[in-house]
Amino acid sequence: MNPMSICSSSSSSSSSTKSWIVHGLLVGAAAAVAIGTHAYFFLGRSRRFRSQVIGIIPARFASTRFEGKPLVEILGKPMIQRTWERAKLASMLDHVVVATDDEKIADCCRGFGADVIMTSESCRNGAERCSEALQKLSKKYDIVVNIQGDEPLIEPEIIDGIVKALQYSPDAVFSTAVTSLKPEDAFDPNRVKCVVDNLGYAIYFSRGLIPYNKSAKVNPNFPYLLHLGIQSYDANFLKIYPELPPTPLQLEEDLEQLKVLENGYKMKVIKVEHEAHGVDVPGDVEKIERYMRERKLS
Ligand SMILES: *[C@@H]1O[C@H](CO)[C@@H](O)[C@H](O)[C@H]1NC(C)=O
Repeated sequence: MNPMSICSSSSSSSSSTKSWIVHGLLVGAAAAVAIGTHAYFFLGRSRRFRSQVIGIIPARFASTRFEGKPLVEILGKPMIQRTWERAKLASMLDHVVVATDDEKIADCCRGFGADVIMTSESCRNGAERCSEALQKLSKKYDIVVNIQGDEPLIEPEIIDGIVKALQYSPDAVFSTAVTSLKPEDAFDPNRVKCVVDNLGYAIYFSRGLIPYNKSAKVNPNFPYLLHLGIQSYDANFLKIYPELPPTPLQLEEDLEQLKVLENGYKMKVIKVEHEAHGVDVPGDVEKIERYMRERKLS
């Protein structure tokens, strides 16, 4: 039994593109079914493949688009605290830490009970900060989830889903999540699109619309995918990932994750339901507060 077939085993249409889709809330159930298979498959070598998991929330104070963003209050609570509280609800994480270069952020996080790892100001992106934090931790972890601090409404089920996706895809070093793309976001370069193969491995990410319909218009019937900023890495891969030299497609699109694919590594993608957008610019704060009020979230 191939552990990669976890998603298709619960579906009769094993070779259609539907087979890899695991909805956020169903991930738990789907994975529970597969645990028996998985344990059996790996029993001879290790108890559970890549079992030790840490969630790291990278947070920096300086940002060109939004200075001090992690500390901005969303309905009266700092955004980083909201992200941390959501991450703590994920059942697949053995530990959650905030990795930051800023004392104000560190103080705030210790204040609400988070563990904090100080990282250098020279980290160029979240993955690099996660990599540095991982090296500073005394305990060994197999998987690192990079939980963006600007996603205060991230569902714990999505975190659990990408961890399980990586655990059940031993040939992948990276996992991430996508959701349905709204037609109005089709040509927005800040909304990154993704295409996957029949088993849910990423083929490509682009700021342009992919696939591109022959008519040069959005095809209302095509299930376009929007990439969500959450990702998890095999810990050994994370040690080398920031050191891999930039690649042509990565540089052209300005998408870090393309470096993974351009170097020939496999990336597992799960499809989830996720409506709320992250907070990128100050104007997004009001939008997310309105969204929360409408849904009576506090
Ligand atoms: C393009 O989109 C249209 C719907 O707008 C669809 O009918 C067609 O199959 C798609 N593909 C091609 C190659 O035209």
